[in-house]
Amino acid sequence: MPIAPWGDAVADVRRDLFIPEDIEVGDEAISRTTSPARWLEAVYSDVSITTQVNDGRSTAHDEYRLPTSSSSQPSVMLEMLSLLDARETDRILELGAGTGLNASWLAHRLGSSHVVSVEIDTVLAEQAAKNAAAAGLSPLIVHGDGTRGWPPGAPHQRVIATYAVTEIPYAWVEQARHGRIVAPWGGSFFPYSFAVVDIRDGRGHGTFTGYPAFMRSRNSRPARGYLNDFLHHRKDATETTTSLSPLAIAQDADALFFAGLALPDAWHLPITADDDSGEITFWILADDQNSWASADYMPDRQEYPVAQYGPRRLWDEALAAYRTWDDLGRPARDRAGLSVTSQGQRIWLDTPDNVLPDSLSAHPLI
Ligand SMILES: C[S@@+](CC[C@H](N)C(=O)[O-])C[C@H]1O[C@@H](n2cnc3c(N)ncnc32)[C@H](O)[C@@H]1O
Repeated sequence: MPIAPWGDAVADVRRDLFIPEDIEVGDEAISRTTSPARWLEAVYSDVSITTQVNDGRSTAHDEYRLPTSSSSQPSVMLEMLSLLDARETDRILELGAGTGLNASWLAHRLGSSHVVSVEIDTVLAEQAAKNAAAAGLSPLIVHGDGTRGWPPGAPHQRVIATYAVTEIPYAWVEQARHGRIVAPWGGSFFPYSFAVVDIRDGRGHGTFTGYPAFMRSRNSRPARGYLNDFLHHRKDATETTTSLSPLAIAQDADALFFAGLALPDAWHLPITADDDSGEITFWILADDQNSWASADYMPDRQEYPVAQYGPRRLWDEALAAYRTWDDLGRPARDRAGLSVTSQGQRIWLDTPDNVLPDSLSAHPLI
């Protein structure tokens, strides 16, 4: 990832000033008090560091731990800043201040008066401002819902979100009428794209790139938990077979992206059998926890077992989306685009007037 023109910011703004005493890296909990060397090693590694779980609530020992704030992986921060393509004179709106590190990198290069960051969590917003001050910087960090942008600072030339959205709010377009938005984008099935949206005269047109994994916007976040919270009534499932290998979807990022347009409210999980069978179960789990499906890949088979439970037939939905994508000639994600106007968001193929068929545009990703 090209570090210029951010090299001075990365070198001068010490990440350790932004990271709390107790952190998680992957599954590893690290305390600065008990493991100072490990803490420092993590802080200066190219890793994402979880800085808050379950919105900062005290969490019982066996409770699911949902990461709710983090200091993003530095190379991913640089990737986003490269996509943002800010010029020296630009005024930047960041959504999701988190630790304040990204706002501070921006402030270091563009000047603190050119950076405002909106954070939905009051405690985090206050801490982010303190962290920035400890680094000698003072981007404006405000408490609020980033969905509304920050009207008092408009016009902004660049808008960067550091949480994932299913829909680019029109407020961001209105507040950067001739600028650019970069945001992690997608629904539950495939939230792994950056949307890069250029705005002209109040209309945004954008494309998708990268494979980022960001936490979802706190105001529209689906419930998450252990697999067993989503899997129930296994004996009551309807059992059929499918001729489509589940791996045709599970292992093809373009198929996942397009199927994800039809399944913004269900997530998927491929699980490899822990024997030598080579079998992989592709789970699809509805956010509302009412429906689930599994399709079992088995080597050398032409037909694969499917189980579905609940009011929705999630494998059938994924299969229908896959077939539509196949009929379109299996386009790569980089042929998809999105338009954002006062009417909302539209997803298209190749040109903005070529809106995708209904079967690939379920609510809210229409
Ligand atoms: C990945 S962290 C941000 C990392 C941060 N930019 C940094 O440099 O440390 C995402 C942050 O977005 C915040 N967030 C989530 N939804 C939000 C929303 N709707 N408006 C504003 N902030 C939000 C979370 O509270 C969390 O702190």
